[in-house]
Amino acid sequence: LDDLLSEGVSGRRVLVRADLNVPLDGDRITDDGRVRASVPTIKALVDAGARVLVAAHLGRPKGEPDPKFSLAPVAVRLGELLGTPVGIGTGTAGDGTVVLLENIRFDARETSKDDAERAALADELAAKADAFVSDGFGVVHRKQASVYDVAKKLPHYAGRLVLAEVEVLRKLTDDLRRPYVVALGGSKVSDKLGVIKNLLTKVDRLLIGGGMAYTFLKAQGHEVGGSLLQEDQVEQVAGFLKEAEERGVELVLPVDVLAATDFAPDAEHEVVATDAIPADRQGLDIGPATRELFASKLADAKTVFWNGPMGVFEFEAFAGGTRAVAEALVKSDAFTVVGGGDSAAAVRALGLPEDGFSHISTGGGASLEFLEGKELPGVKVLED
Ligand code: 3PG
Repeated sequence: LDDLLSEGVSGRRVLVRADLNVPLDGDRITDDGRVRASVPTIKALVDAGARVLVAAHLGRPKGEPDPKFSLAPVAVRLGELLGTPVGIGTGTAGDGTVVLLENIRFDARETSKDDAERAALADELAAKADAFVSDGFGVVHRKQASVYDVAKKLPHYAGRLVLAEVEVLRKLTDDLRRPYVVALGGSKVSDKLGVIKNLLTKVDRLLIGGGMAYTFLKAQGHEVGGSLLQEDQVEQVAGFLKEAEERGVELVLPVDVLAATDFAPDAEHEVVATDAIPADRQGLDIGPATRELFASKLADAKTVFWNGPMGVFEFEAFAGGTRAVAEALVKSDAFTVVGGGDSAAAVRALGLPEDGFSHISTGGGASLEFLEGKELPGVKVLED
């Protein structure tokens, strides 16, 4: 971005790809972290007098306009944060003003697997701008028209957020201080197979909590009652347990859980050991002994990556495990990185200080794919 700014952007049309994919409750934004993270780049361009056109997506609409997925509430929030109203739609921006294009995924070509279709949309976008700034880190793992193809059609630059995210995540892959401890949670182990496989070659310790832990517990031979379980992944996970042992990676699983009668905020629940989960109960959070165990395993770390909540943190009764891990990171003087929309949202929802972490990534899938060692098309195209 500094290169572009030093060329002078006053009166020039600059297309910025941002990741403004925020959680909404109706048209209320429940976590505006990604909107805030997009401000430094957009503001720098506005202040320099550019005509800023922002492209972004919201959710996964079916390639046609759908009011449920409108970015209109996001335009309002972005305007508040910038201190200048942000138009929404197809209009053109004046000098030093911003227009947010309506959800780019309303056009089926954005996510098309057909190169020619994506290129056609990229041509249309490129015709609206003189330069392209890629700043949607959360979406750089997607080979999509407004992320990847358009960069081939215009002089292209990395925005502040993309640059900061890539620099931080590179520290986790290149220049590590050990012990390196990773805490993984979240519901689906199937989403994390690639990253676990790769992490087993890098980490000293891997802590597993959240819904995905039950597939690990099952692979260890425990019964998990009505807890989340991906039966078809048990074999693969058993392979991870074996590989961890062979590589000398300490793989730490929950020793107790909060076992609830049903999936509800006020569900009756009790603390049970993981080898005694009753058949009619489901684990909705890690238990107190596990919280202590995980905190002790994080205490001497020099580098920590945390992705995924440890329990159903949206329900106060089951937020304690996620809070305990987050607090252990805040206390730690390690280099601490939080990745993934849910963990970042949890940090804010639980009222923890954002500056208690070295970095909170705006990328969910993007940060995991980065750590998996995969090439991110939206970053690669800038480097090319
Ligand atoms: C995210 O929420 O991780 C990004 O905005 C990407 O969204 P997607 O998974 O729908 O491509």
